[in-house]
Amino acid sequence: MVVILLGPPGVGKGTQAVRLAEESHAAHVSTGDLLRAARRDGTDLGRQAQEFMDSGELVPDALILGLVREHLAGIGPETDVLFDGFPRTTAQATGLSDVLTEVGRQVDGVVLFEAPDEALIKRLSGRRSCPDCGAVYNVHFNPSGVDDTCDRCGGSLVHRADDSPETVSRRLEVYQEQTAPLVSYYASHEAPLERVRADRSVDEVYTDFRSVVGGIR
Ligand code: AP5
Repeated sequence: MVVILLGPPGVGKGTQAVRLAEESHAAHVSTGDLLRAARRDGTDLGRQAQEFMDSGELVPDALILGLVREHLAGIGPETDVLFDGFPRTTAQATGLSDVLTEVGRQVDGVVLFEAPDEALIKRLSGRRSCPDCGAVYNVHFNPSGVDDTCDRCGGSLVHRADDSPETVSRRLEVYQEQTAPLVSYYASHEAPLERVRADRSVDEVYTDFRSVVGGIR
């Protein structure tokens, strides 16, 4: 099964995907996480992506599709895949379709997470991430036990550079301009699209998300 988690920055795609992937042993493929890892490792891709990410723009489609193709090659055909933050343009959606067809797979469903902009801005202003293990906290909703320290691995938590107010506002615009059109793309193309109200507690959102994915299986 291949499921796409679609929704604006800060809506909770990563939080929900990590939880379902742990529970169901699915592969969680987050292009944002892969790009940040490439930056930390100092690869060519990481250097090319940096400027786009810091300014809230999308990284070019060709780089993203190359990254996803390479990553998918390491995932077995029986493993369920949860795409988080990918695809983000119609070119990426058609590219994904091609890559999946080559390996006899398809997009089985799309889950659209929705919340008002005010909630997204508050969540992103309070987000703290662990660069070592990827755990995500929030100073307003889900703080770590000890300030600025990861409960899971003891790493030092960071406020992502692209979570600054100016960049968040650009990321929300970019979502509306380039990614929101995927809602009608998937509705008219290949996969059932289910909506989940994400302006509720993490547990409430997860209950709905899990049930929607259960229906896609
Ligand atoms: P990426 O890392 O994918 O960022 P994003 O899509 O903007 O999503 P976020 O990670 O900001 O939010 P999320 O929905 O995962 O929310 P989270 O669970 O963390 O991309 C970053 C950049 O990389 C892009 O701007 C672009 O430059 C580039 N990029 C990546 N993919 C690309 C692609 N395919 N094409 C081109 N460029 C690409 O939650 C947010 C916060 O809220 C956390 O603090 C969390 O604890 C909290 N929270 C979550 N759920 C709840 C809840 N229910 N109640 C209260 N708080 C909650």
